[in-house]
Amino acid sequence: MSPSQQPPLIKLEKICFAYPGRPPVLRNLDLELRPGDKIGLAAPNGSGKTTLLHIIMGLLRPSSGRLEFFGRPAAEEEDFIAVRRRVGLLFQDADDQLFSPTVLDDVAFGPLNLGKSREEAREISLRTLSFLGLEDFADRVTFKLSGGEKRLVSLATVLAMEPEVLLLDEPTAGLDQRTKKMLIDIMQNLSQAYLLISHEFDFLAATADHIYTMEEGRILLDDELYIHQHQHAHRLGKQPHKHI
Ligand SMILES: Nc1ncnc2c1ncn2[C@@H]1O[C@H](COP(=O)(O)OP(=O)(O)O)[C@@H](O)[C@H]1O
Ligand SMILES: [Mg+2]
Repeated sequence: MSPSQQPPLIKLEKICFAYPGRPPVLRNLDLELRPGDKIGLAAPNGSGKTTLLHIIMGLLRPSSGRLEFFGRPAAEEEDFIAVRRRVGLLFQDADDQLFSPTVLDDVAFGPLNLGKSREEAREISLRTLSFLGLEDFADRVTFKLSGGEKRLVSLATVLAMEPEVLLLDEPTAGLDQRTKKMLIDIMQNLSQAYLLISHEFDFLAATADHIYTMEEGRILLDDELYIHQHQHAHRLGKQPHKHI
């Protein structure tokens, strides 16, 4: 099948969600991620980006709406267990991702959980660390890493599970310029489709084919974003930024 004939990797229809006792965060949100898509999502703090990724992973359940993965609906925990084997989430906070004593233990945890042998898990983990330029990190103590190092190790834990789709929640947070450049290189070499949240337009311009935003609990696609360009120019007008 050519990519255009394949079902969407992820399809959300009319998703609504509110935290208890709070106003709605997602309101009839629609989203599609297709094979090969490299999508950036940039929207103000609090607009619901992280919530959206947690809904996709089944960590939160929508009050209404439909989710579909690889052409099949997902609604129950059982469905999402299968989804989590194929969709990898880089959490916004590395401390939600890392919990093992050493970096190698953390990276091997996912593959072991997927049923790989100790030897296979070790081999995949070392290969993944090396792909990220982290070959010397295997025996480091996770909690002693810097914020930026934790970020990259978190990415290693996600990639080691060899997901078919990646959801990355602010991957550049805490990274210095050099590491950010390295991450751009890594992203450009990834074979997977991804949805990537970032506020950094230079990073998005280098890594995303489309840049979406969120407003009033819904996704706005690039075309709609174009209409908002004038407003965007005013809000960020005094800071260095690129127009998209
Ligand atoms: N666990 C929670 N309980 C209640 N409100 C929450 C919780 N998590 C996030 N929120 C609120 O939901 C809104 C969307 O948050 P979030 O999805 O984290 O936005 P973003 O990732 O775009 O910054 C915000 O107003 C935030 O304060
Ligand atoms: Mg967030």
